[in-house]
Amino acid sequence: MTHFQLKTNLLNQPLMLPNGVVIPNRLAKAATSETLATYSNNPTEKHIRLYQRWAASGIGMIITGNIMIDRCALGEPRNVVIEDERDFAILQKWAKSVTEQGSQLWAQLNHPGKQSPKGLNVRNISASSVPFGAEMQSLFATPDEATHEEIIDIIQRFGRSALICKKAGFSGVEIHAAHGYLINQFLSPLHNLRNDEWGGTPEKRRKFLMDVYVEIRNRSVQIFQSQLNLIQLIFKKVALQRMTL
Ligand SMILES: Cc1cc2nc3c(=O)[nH]c(=O)nc-3n(C[C@H](O)[C@H](O)[C@H](O)COP(=O)(O)O)c2cc1C
Repeated sequence: MTHFQLKTNLLNQPLMLPNGVVIPNRLAKAATSETLATYSNNPTEKHIRLYQRWAASGIGMIITGNIMIDRCALGEPRNVVIEDERDFAILQKWAKSVTEQGSQLWAQLNHPGKQSPKGLNVRNISASSVPFGAEMQSLFATPDEATHEEIIDIIQRFGRSALICKKAGFSGVEIHAAHGYLINQFLSPLHNLRNDEWGGTPEKRRKFLMDVYVEIRNRSVQIFQSQLNLIQLIFKKVALQRMTL
């Protein structure tokens, strides 16, 4: 058997996660934002067609582009938003378009925090009111510091969106904690200058992420899987050195 064949065979083998969930092979598609939703942020038949084709390729696990948890907090125009059940029928169809072909469909859930182009949202919030660097200020507004109540609301929204995904037939969710979005902003000592229970030490800066995780697990019982996207942390290098999850 050649080296190439060995590698090919390994990629074809199922992967059992520690919790017993089996991914049918070792191929996964990373999240790539589609911006194919309507301007009111509803998923469309375009999603169904695209994901049907990806699943037909035999990929074991497909992660959606980032799905927002709040219509008032978009990262890009035409993001999908899941905050209630208004799109339940097409979400079911989206999940089925992948799972009926034997692949898994995981929804990536996100809140942009301050990383949202000026004018897209009425107001942007972040861990702290830290402006962008001078070269970015024409594109991104300085955010307001989130209140405690707003933080709790966002945590609950992550849980609600995850539960809707589960009910619609998605295989799991991925919490977007990377790429400079809200959870990443909370994790970063450069962008989180708080001195309350949400900031001041590495443990407190990660509390927001941990609470989102726990909320999703609590709402979705044990069978719904969640994973974290912590790779490619582009907020300088200091943010996550000692994180253990
Ligand atoms: C068009 C485009 C959209 C992307 N959208 C997302 C996204 O919604 N969520 C995310 O976590 N990463 C997103 N990414 C990052 C990719 O998932 C991936 O991490 C990145 O392309 C690097 O992977 P590579 O080294 O295989 O190219 C996007 C990348 C591209 C090119």
